[in-house]
Amino acid sequence: MQSLPSFLQAHNTPSDIAAILNGLMTSCVDISNKLQQGALAGILGCAGEENIQGETQKKLDVISNDIIKDQLASMSMVKGMASEEEDFPVACNENGEYLVLFDPLDGSSNIDVNVTVGTIFSILKTTKDVDASKPEAYLQAGTEQVSAGYVLYGPSTILMLTTGQGVHSFAMDPATGEFLLMRENVQIPAQTQEFAINMSNQRFWLPEMQNYVADLLQGEEGPLGKRYNMRWVAAMVAEVHRILTRGGIFMYPYDNRDPSKPGKLRLMYEGNPMSMLIEQAGGKASTAHAPIMEVTPTDIHQRVSVVMGSIDEVDVALSYHKK
Ligand code: AHG
Ligand code: MN
Ligand code: MN
Ligand code: MN
Repeated sequence: MQSLPSFLQAHNTPSDIAAILNGLMTSCVDISNKLQQGALAGILGCAGEENIQGETQKKLDVISNDIIKDQLASMSMVKGMASEEEDFPVACNENGEYLVLFDPLDGSSNIDVNVTVGTIFSILKTTKDVDASKPEAYLQAGTEQVSAGYVLYGPSTILMLTTGQGVHSFAMDPATGEFLLMRENVQIPAQTQEFAINMSNQRFWLPEMQNYVADLLQGEEGPLGKRYNMRWVAAMVAEVHRILTRGGIFMYPYDNRDPSKPGKLRLMYEGNPMSMLIEQAGGKASTAHAPIMEVTPTDIHQRVSVVMGSIDEVDVALSYHKK
């Protein structure tokens, strides 16, 4: 089985990008091991701080962030980084030409109940003259990403990766910490019968989303003419992984709980990298009004409305927003 470094080499991945990906995986092996030890390593529970978005940080949010941050800071090609758990960007190496944006631990409400979590990353190209301590340095649209992916820490630890030439999956061998190629060119089925949305927010959605989900719930007796099943893991990595594996639609749409926030998920380290994976696998990723990757970013922590997954299902959802 081909290891990640040899796969990247065989596919002519630019050496700086390959180095960043290999470095990120060193961090993810470390995070995976910490998760395996769980309570034994004293890593569960809260850290006692809030991040810039007002979320209580779990110990493991902070630990994972520090692991990735230390790794990236030591890499000469990394100019700077932005993380969910860092209020401001962190400038790294003067001569680096790449920026890394990441969600060190996605689904952190799952940690204490021993359910799947993940790490999401997005890599952008920059120039040496940019000041990577300034948020503006990172505000490129998702279409500019040179690579994106996630590591899922579930029953096994899996990497889903794109460098703009399809999506490929790798499984971590726990004995060696190597990521080994499992599937090349993962494709999402165009049609499915599975949707994922947090139904408890229903009353806060726009009428268009209310109508669409009401029709999903009507199943074969409604206008969509087929019966749907629902899943919600509360970790975007797990939802997107399910979709990349067997199709489906995942939504965290705009809601009016807080009109200043256009959704819950963050554009730069959740929406964009997941959209690149979904589109590279033949799916579609939209805000409900425009492709997520075409949103012009204005803030490294900005939120975005998300509708992504199997292309035909996403198109049906979007058709409700055009009516
Ligand atoms: P994070 O743990 O990185 O803050 O992200 C959590 C996100 C995302 O992974 C998931 O889809 C969503 O929050 C779950 O939200 P609910 O609590 O509304 O289920
Ligand atoms: Mn969080
Ligand atoms: Mn997240
Ligand atoms: Mn997170």
